Amino acid sequence: MRKPLIAPSLLSADFSRLAEEIQNLEQLGVDWFHCDVMDGAFVPNISFGVPIIEAIRQCTTLPLDVHLMIQAPERYIQTFAEAGADILTFHWEATPHPDRLIQQIHSLGKQAGIALNPATPVEVLVDILPEVEVVCVMSVNPGFGGQRFIPYITHKVQRLWELRQRRNARALIEVDGGISPETVLQIPQADVLVVGHNLLRAPDRIKALEALRTAWM
Ligand code: DX5
Ligand code: ZN
Repeated sequence: MRKPLIAPSLLSADFSRLAEEIQNLEQLGVDWFHCDVMDGAFVPNISFGVPIIEAIRQCTTLPLDVHLMIQAPERYIQTFAEAGADILTFHWEATPHPDRLIQQIHSLGKQAGIALNPATPVEVLVDILPEVEVVCVMSVNPGFGGQRFIPYITHKVQRLWELRQRRNARALIEVDGGISPETVLQIPQADVLVVGHNLLRAPDRIKALEALRTAWM
């Protein structure tokens, strides 16, 4: 059975012990680190920015998947690339020029991801899908960890999978928000699972990770 990549969301980490948290997750065998950057304008919350990404970069060699929940992300792509991001994911809703942004990310030698808010249909990607490495389907309204998975996302993920086939594209399907051993069952097409609360705040992280990995078997 195919195993999805696990990308823990560091938003739910204990920031006073960030280096230890990263080490602990790495020892558990996670695949990427998902870093949620929020500007207080695109989303109603502020998280962390460039210095924290630089610090995280010092702690790990695993891929850093930087999820930019910021307005006009073109202003900061280069800065986050230099800070150590491997994958730069911006929101389709946050810029009028997604294509230009993808080109900018690639010219910096990084992988490009597009994130879609829950209400944005996957069909907006029909032309651009073959140009990106990752599509991040938000399964909660972005801004906070620990929210409930929105049920209609199941159908969106299925449609994205079909669109990928139809367009002969390779973008990884990443699902972000409210992921648990129960909700993963509804999105068997996902390639990457972003997990915050249900891994980092779990009483037993080893068991929590195992439960996520084996849910589809
Ligand atoms: C939400 C963020 C998510 C979030 C996931 O705005 O993009 O990455 O931290 O956390 P959980 O798994 O707790 O929903
Ligand atoms: Zn995220």
